[in-house]
Amino acid sequence: MNIVRAKDYQDMSKKAAGIIASQIIMKPNCVLGLATGSTPIGAYENLVEWYQNGDLDFSKVSSVNLDEYRGITRENDQSYYYFMNKNLFGKVNIDKANTHLPDGMESDSDKACSDYNKAIEAVGGIDLQLLGLGHNGHIGFNEPSEEFVPDTHCVDLAPSTIEANKRFFASYDDVPKQAYTMGIRNIMLARKVLVVVSGEDKAAIVRDAFFGPITPKVQASVLQLHPNVTLVADEAALSLI
Ligand code: F6R
Repeated sequence: MNIVRAKDYQDMSKKAAGIIASQIIMKPNCVLGLATGSTPIGAYENLVEWYQNGDLDFSKVSSVNLDEYRGITRENDQSYYYFMNKNLFGKVNIDKANTHLPDGMESDSDKACSDYNKAIEAVGGIDLQLLGLGHNGHIGFNEPSEEFVPDTHCVDLAPSTIEANKRFFASYDDVPKQAYTMGIRNIMLARKVLVVVSGEDKAAIVRDAFFGPITPKVQASVLQLHPNVTLVADEAALSLI
């Protein structure tokens, strides 16, 4: 694993955006696996700025996002679809037809999941998968478990994840309790993985995920088996390693 040490959140965001930008420059028709959450927002801001300066062209890029809440519409400002449009897709020249997220409003979860696995296959797999890291080691919404679930599936969110996400909702009860997420095989098949982590509150899970035993109880630990992972983290997140 390649560890890129950043000074702070700003620096982490710029370095992560640099890796994504070089992927786009080297392969203009690349497939980006994208993440939501607070950590990648700064990286997306850099990408938007570089696009606005004429240094990046998203016109041939395709994307597949990690996950989407189940049961909320795309127009809901808490949907991951809305997040991606607000932070990236709506601000660069990516063709919206080439952007993919699980369909949160598909109530038949088998269909939602198999459609999404097919969508990932149809774009030819993922060149670069961007990941944030949950406090409990989740990647996408692959929560601590006794097993690694290979493909896209419907998950019950862990109480700690609902708790962490409730800052975006009026109350705990308003947070969706289920989501569709790529599985571990979908993620591990990405040709490159870029993990972004910031803050002292993530230091213990960075240590456990990347330097502890490989276990489904810490889903991100499986990334230790991936041949091409780059962790871009700030000093605070790396303070225990
Ligand atoms: C987001 C996702 C999640 C987040 C994780 C970290 O699409 O799948 O796994 O990456 O919860 O979230 P933040 O960055 O808000 O700490």
